[in-house]
Amino acid sequence: MKTLRRYWETHNGETSPLLQIHDYLRSKKTALETSDIKALAEQLKLPEATVRGVISYYADLQDNRGSMRVCQGTSCMLAGAGKLYDNLQKSSKCQVAYCLGYCDRSPVVLDSQERLLFNKQAQALAEEQQLEATAEPPQLSVRCLAPEPMVIRRAGNDYSQLEKARAAGAYSAWFKALEGSPEDILSTLECSGERGRGGAGFPTGQKWRSCAEARGEPRYVIANGDEGDPGSFIDRVLMENDPHGIIEGMLLCAYAVGASQGLIFIRSEYPQAIMRMREAITQARAAGIFGSEDTFPIEISIFPGMGSYVCGEETAMLNAIEGLRGEVQIRPPYPTQEGLYGQPTVVNNVETLVNIAPILEKGAEAYAALGTEYSFGTKAMCLNHGFARPGIVEVEFGTTLKELIAEAGGSAHGQPLEAVILGGPMGSLLLPEQWDVPICYRTMAERGIHLGHGGLVALPEGTDYRALLEHWLKFMKDESCGKCVPCRLGSEKAWHLVRHQIHQPEYRTQLEQLFGVMEQGSLCAFGQYMPEPMRQMIEYFGNRIFQ
Ligand SMILES: Cc1cc2nc3c(=O)[nH]c(=O)nc-3n(C[C@H](O)[C@H](O)[C@H](O)COP(=O)(O)O)c2cc1C
Ligand code: SF4
Repeated sequence: MKTLRRYWETHNGETSPLLQIHDYLRSKKTALETSDIKALAEQLKLPEATVRGVISYYADLQDNRGSMRVCQGTSCMLAGAGKLYDNLQKSSKCQVAYCLGYCDRSPVVLDSQERLLFNKQAQALAEEQQLEATAEPPQLSVRCLAPEPMVIRRAGNDYSQLEKARAAGAYSAWFKALEGSPEDILSTLECSGERGRGGAGFPTGQKWRSCAEARGEPRYVIANGDEGDPGSFIDRVLMENDPHGIIEGMLLCAYAVGASQGLIFIRSEYPQAIMRMREAITQARAAGIFGSEDTFPIEISIFPGMGSYVCGEETAMLNAIEGLRGEVQIRPPYPTQEGLYGQPTVVNNVETLVNIAPILEKGAEAYAALGTEYSFGTKAMCLNHGFARPGIVEVEFGTTLKELIAEAGGSAHGQPLEAVILGGPMGSLLLPEQWDVPICYRTMAERGIHLGHGGLVALPEGTDYRALLEHWLKFMKDESCGKCVPCRLGSEKAWHLVRHQIHQPEYRTQLEQLFGVMEQGSLCAFGQYMPEPMRQMIEYFGNRIFQ
């Protein structure tokens, strides 16, 4: 069983407690009882309260057997997924998902047999019509505005089979790197100026150097494939179409920092990505690309997420892997010093990792010549179904949002766009007069704009901002990890205000005060940054919210 699924194993040979709980609950035919908690606590040698705490935290540990996941991410919400959920619920067991990562084809449903139903197909399912009678689902579009593709070079088609990936260049940087030293990789990466693509934009070379110089064994490299930002789907596409690009990035990292254990954390909402990544690992290991003394003795495995958005935050993710509630931890210490099981750990976003091989191939100077003075290289941007030409577009840093939106053909349905959301729930809401901003970490930060993971959601004229505000707060209260009071209770209270009392203008002030408390008193970026786009909604479109 273990060898088939290659679940993550701890250093003492035990399967992670979280996965043991998951398997136990999945094997049960009846509802959870007190005796189950006792049995699990004994099996895991943990206090009953810990087991109870873990079970109550994760969406996937609730009784969702046989239910379909209906995406309620921002893009799907704007496409009417709320109504879709209500309709589907009348005839089937449904579960809310934030998000399934097909924002270019909203709304989307993942049924109980893990079949994806897009747009009209999903609507037909709700109306109990024949699926065959509906139109072909729209296809993914992957395009490049940069001088040459770096991130998306194998993302447009299925390159998950090893032979095809190798014919398209996968692992050539890896074998070349093995002829040099770990220091070669570290110094090239530092000179390239590459920054992590997971949202915070931290310099990758600096992160790897810090881990390489830290004390402790074993060392871990973790690919963060938990992409939960509604509006972003590049990580899903990379994991499905270019899994070898991610493995290659992990191997290069492991060699540079001296890691012997690799792990890819993938959200359970992405079953196809889990399957493709798992197969790619098996193929690469069998071909001797890693895993032996002759090549490089590292073990790589998959850890499936359990339905928590905040587990994309690196310290919450480490907790999840260790079998705890996915709550954010206070930093320092940073994972590079004390990460998984207290050992030096690099956590990198999957897009960051795909970038590494092209940087080594091109050389630091050529890479740094791309982009702006402060942000080097290229960025994959995601465009949701609200644009006329949705999909993934790789751009050179410095390209303006206006140019990108023009490439996307403006709004899908012809009416003018009155705003866009950039960078997911912790991002920014931007009016057309702000779209001349270049895509660049520094310039954007100077203007108070968050690039996040680079997802863009179109807001056409007539958008219901009251509904959007309520949706934002529901997401926040549902997904808050609960560790700190301002975020946990603030989001609940603010959601309640918007849902029930928003028509009374005095609640605007109360809402703004709550946002202030969350921004100032929250522990992590989730509570600190999520209020900002909501403030912008109120500032720009308040007259349509408070009536
Ligand atoms: C609430 C929250 C959610 C996050 N979700 C993700 C995620 O889904 N994927 C990701 O790569 N980083 C996510 N991050 C950022 C990670 O904590 C971390 O900075 C990142 O994985 C580091 O990789 P990078 O240096 O390659 O960007 C999240 C951060 C926060 C605060
Ligand atoms: S801000 Fe929210 S998500 Fe972040 S630690 Fe606090 S409760 Fe958790």
